[in-house]
Amino acid sequence: MLKVEDLSVALSGKSLLSGVSFGARAGQVTAIIGPNGSGKTTLLRALCAEWRYSGHAALNGHDIRTTRPNVMAKIRAVLAQETQVAFPFTAGEIVRIGLEAGGHAADEARAAHLLAEVDLPGYAPRPYHQLSGGEQARVQFARALAQVQPVGEKGPMWLLLDEPLASLDIGHQLLVLRIARKFADAGGGVVAVMHDLNLTAMLADQVLLMQSGRLIARGSVPEILSDDLLTKAFHCRIRVNTLPAHGTWTLPQSSMGWAAAS
Ligand SMILES: Nc1ncnc2c1ncn2[C@@H]1O[C@H](COP(=O)(O)OP(=O)(O)OP(=O)(O)O)[C@@H](O)[C@H]1O
Ligand SMILES: [Mg+2]
Repeated sequence: MLKVEDLSVALSGKSLLSGVSFGARAGQVTAIIGPNGSGKTTLLRALCAEWRYSGHAALNGHDIRTTRPNVMAKIRAVLAQETQVAFPFTAGEIVRIGLEAGGHAADEARAAHLLAEVDLPGYAPRPYHQLSGGEQARVQFARALAQVQPVGEKGPMWLLLDEPLASLDIGHQLLVLRIARKFADAGGGVVAVMHDLNLTAMLADQVLLMQSGRLIARGSVPEILSDDLLTKAFHCRIRVNTLPAHGTWTLPQSSMGWAAAS
C-alpha cells in the first residue's frame, strides 16, 4: 500500500505541491495525469525522497522520509522522466545496475533476457549513448524491471514510472503497457505518470488528476476521464468518446514470466 497524506513540497519559498492525499494499492495501476507543470514529477520525486516534503508518505508501511535508500531500493524501482548517464555504460551494464540495486546477482544472462523482454534482443553489449531515444527509454525500463519483481519476500513491490511511454512508438507503448499491467496483475503496485489519455484509459485502475500542484480529482477511469473534468484541467475543450456497447479492448499478452496473483 502507498499512503500519502497532506503532502506538500516547497522550493525556495515557492509551493510546488500542496496538500496531496491518496492511497494506491498493490495489484493495481495508478495513473497520474495533468497538464505540464502541474506537479506530477514533483509528486513522484517526493515519493522517492528526492524532494523534501511536509506531510506523510509511506510505502508498504515504511516512512518514505526516514527509511534508508538501500531498504527502499528493495521495495520499489523508479523510472525518472529524464535519465542522465554520465559514464560510457553498455545497455547490459545499465540493466545490471538495476539487478544490483534490488539485491540480485548482476547476472549477464538475466540482463540480456530482460532487454529481450523490452524488444532489445542482443543489445546488451551496445553502448547506451549510441542508442535511439526510445531504445534508451526501454533500457531504463528494463533496469527498473531488473530491480523489482511483483511480489518479494516481504510483500508487494512497486514500479514508480514517470512518463514511461513518452518517447516510444505505439507498438512499444503497448509492449511497456502490457508489462506494467502484468506486473500489477501479478500482485505488484504500479504508479505511472501519463500524458496519453487513451493509453491511460487502457491501463489504469485508479487515476489521479493534478492541476497547479494540487490533486483535484481521484477515481476510476470513467469517473476522471470525463468531458468536464478534463476540459477544466487541461484548459481546452475535450470530449471523451466511449466504445460502442459491443466494443472492447484488451491488451495483448506479455511474455514476462510472472504468475497472476490469485
Ligand atoms: N527544481 C525546481 N525549482 C523550481 N521550480 C521547479 C523545480 N522543479 C520543478 N519546478 C516547478 O514545479 C512545477 C511542477 O513541475 P513538475 O516537473 O512536477 O511538473 P509536471 O507535472 O511533471 O510537468 P510535465 O508534464 O511537463 O513533466 C513547475 O511549475 C516547475 O517549473
Ligand atoms: Mg514531469
